[in-house]
Amino acid sequence: MAMAQSLAPSTYSAARAARPKARRAVPSRIVARTGAATGESARRLVAAFDPAIPLASAVTPPSGWYTDPEFLQLELDRVFLRGWQAVGHVGQVKNPNDFFTGRLGNVEFVICRDANGELHAFHNVCRHHASLLACGSGQKTCFQCPYHGWTYGLDGILLKATRISGIKNFNKNDFGLIPITVATWGPFVLAIFDDSSQNTVNDVVGDEWLGSASDLLSRSGIDTTSLPHICRREYIIECNWKVFCDNYLDGGYHVPYAHGALASGLQLQSYETSTYERVSIQRCESAPAEQEDIDRLGTKATYAFVYPNFMINRYGPWMDTNLAVPLDATRCKVVFDYFLDESLLEDHNFVDRSLKDSEQVQMEDIALCEGVQRGLESPAYSVGRYAPSVEMAMHHFHCLLHDNLSG
Ligand code: FES
Ligand SMILES: [Fe+2]
Repeated sequence: MAMAQSLAPSTYSAARAARPKARRAVPSRIVARTGAATGESARRLVAAFDPAIPLASAVTPPSGWYTDPEFLQLELDRVFLRGWQAVGHVGQVKNPNDFFTGRLGNVEFVICRDANGELHAFHNVCRHHASLLACGSGQKTCFQCPYHGWTYGLDGILLKATRISGIKNFNKNDFGLIPITVATWGPFVLAIFDDSSQNTVNDVVGDEWLGSASDLLSRSGIDTTSLPHICRREYIIECNWKVFCDNYLDGGYHVPYAHGALASGLQLQSYETSTYERVSIQRCESAPAEQEDIDRLGTKATYAFVYPNFMINRYGPWMDTNLAVPLDATRCKVVFDYFLDESLLEDHNFVDRSLKDSEQVQMEDIALCEGVQRGLESPAYSVGRYAPSVEMAMHHFHCLLHDNLSG
């Protein structure tokens, strides 16, 4: 995880008691694009984990959850392409004409703010011959396809279809970009890829995305939009996306063994873990002020995991977020965004030292995650066990996944 994790359970309750909300209806148009056939082997793997077994007796999901391409396809269909997904931060689309692009599974998307300030999201695919339309991020007054020049407004309307004289049965209004539902909560941009209704209210989004943890996270200062964005770091990691999440969710178990420098800045015995519908929150106090890391970590840190793949870390003057994006069954990209209290923006030494300390933790975690992936692929391993006093958030995560995948 980014900074630290938890030791002692305080308010853990069985994951089975907290089911995610009902899924939204799936428009048939998008199902045809995302609903690849998933095989019997993936279903057998889902069934191999039993969420009804209490944590103390449970075995972890089998290694196939972390290695099987069909299992990843099932996750993309049932988890990532349904319900709210974090896709970026509001600073990326702060001004009219700002846009950024991304990819999740086989979905290519573009998020943009039109000239009137309205936020939109679309499938980033030209309606002519399917070329990707926008690239990277930046500012544009329209999207012109690099292939044959069809041009779309930032509201998705097809403005110009080039050289179509003589075409029959063609109505430009039918060839706008395919919309995706988008919304913001605090500093985060969220999307639902299987729903194109586009009519969402941000207050409702918080409840749908975070459930009963929404208020608590607001009180922890996680929904603040006042922290300037400092930088983004991206890491390609040779592991299944869940290996990174599991590492985040082990309740601080690995911190004293793997993060010596970080462990000295934390009071690991103060760790506590709470689980909610789709969120788990780990909290930890920092070591006394004489520890050199106190400035970076503050007095108490909050580490929130938002199912399925978004992590929000709030500590001292910092907030950072980690988005674990699956690339294939054994590879993921983790995107770190760093935000900092405005009062420290000019303290370049502090910023550089903090980012360097954080980078060291990431490097240590990457080595752990890549080692775990190789172990998962070994014939020696099939399932493991949970340490019941610390790994309750990880069990909660696996139970949520099982619930989504078997539904
Ligand atoms: S594919 Fe976009 S204009 Fe032809
Ligand atoms: Fe870690």
